[in-house]
Amino acid sequence: MSSNWPENLGEAMIIKEKLLMGPGPSNCPPTVLKAAANPLLGHLHPDFCVIMDDVKAGIKHLFQTENELTIALCASGHAAMEATLVNVLEAGEKVVIARNGIWGDRAADIASRAGILVAMMNGNPGKSFSTEDIEEFLAKEKPKAFFITHGESSTGVLQNLKGIGAICRKYNCLFSVDSVAACGGVELKMDEWGIDVLYTGSQKVLSAPPGTAPISFSAQAREAIKNRKTAVQSYYLDVEILGRYWNVDNQPRFYHHTGAVTNIFALREALSFISSKTLEQSWKRHKNCQKKLHEGLKELGLELFVENEDDRLPCVTTIKVPGGVEWAKVTGLMMQNDTIEMAGGLGPTAGKCWRIGLMGYNCTEPNVEKVLWSLKKALESVGYLSQIETF
Ligand SMILES: Cc1ncc(COP(=O)(O)O)c(C=O)c1O
Repeated sequence: MSSNWPENLGEAMIIKEKLLMGPGPSNCPPTVLKAAANPLLGHLHPDFCVIMDDVKAGIKHLFQTENELTIALCASGHAAMEATLVNVLEAGEKVVIARNGIWGDRAADIASRAGILVAMMNGNPGKSFSTEDIEEFLAKEKPKAFFITHGESSTGVLQNLKGIGAICRKYNCLFSVDSVAACGGVELKMDEWGIDVLYTGSQKVLSAPPGTAPISFSAQAREAIKNRKTAVQSYYLDVEILGRYWNVDNQPRFYHHTGAVTNIFALREALSFISSKTLEQSWKRHKNCQKKLHEGLKELGLELFVENEDDRLPCVTTIKVPGGVEWAKVTGLMMQNDTIEMAGGLGPTAGKCWRIGLMGYNCTEPNVEKVLWSLKKALESVGYLSQIETF
């Protein structure tokens, strides 16, 4: 081991601005970055507690919930997925996981590691689940909880959540939803739709830096937690203890961990940014930009991965890579020439698709035009557009 510090650390860190049009993180508004540059406060300082309260109130509105236990984890979306599973389920209990992309797999991995029994409800990548299929599966498996992904960012599928809550109630099962890649960009009503556990990530539609994850638990979910026979295996993700740090139920604040003060400042500002418009306006803007993007892609002769229009997630569009085109060459050219990020596929779409994100601050018509312009140039460079023009 060298006795000297790595030389690079002595050099200035220079980050050049890029337009992040992948499936997240998306760019932050300047006000959000500025909020993160504020002087630190102690994680239990009264001024910081006010900011935490603002964040709780903002998440409640974003999720459309009155749930008391509504907080932000100082951790990424994966931690929220884990918190969802390990709080409402104990080792030996059963969860049904709807799987039509990578996030179902990830949830199953997390649950299995905690000794939770997983019944996998396999769907088709590129298609959402029907309420009939869900009901049939729940009736057969009788799980304690059902887990589904609202916006499958690996495949670009939007899951319709309406009606699932009632089915879960019928089979006495908790309804948990991953809305990391959809919340804020599409209609979502936690209480009205009977969702028991809901979470999202800061770095997608909220356009805050990665590292915080809003999450909420219904009264039924909390009842299930209260009735556990064993302690939640993860101290860090035990949401009832965390709730005390967040003053849930007016409990005196309690030191659970040192909150990610700077990231919470940024999340507070991101919630302020999204609150300048109604949720309906945000949902509509995402839909309109999606339409413009899809029309532009069609003009370039490109095909979408998700066939059914209603199944297409406004926040992440998956585009089939045409035969003979090297996907990474195209994304590389876009970054190199135009500093625009477009991503490749993930899980079932890996090597087959590109993914374009339209999220929050980045979801604007000028950005749709920029990404289409850059993609067109890159496709010309690799000879694809000249090919289709000849046909
Ligand atoms: C649907 C979905 N769930 C969970 C995650 C995981 O979030 P994170 O990368 O913040 O841990 C992502 C990230 O892209 C996602 O899109």
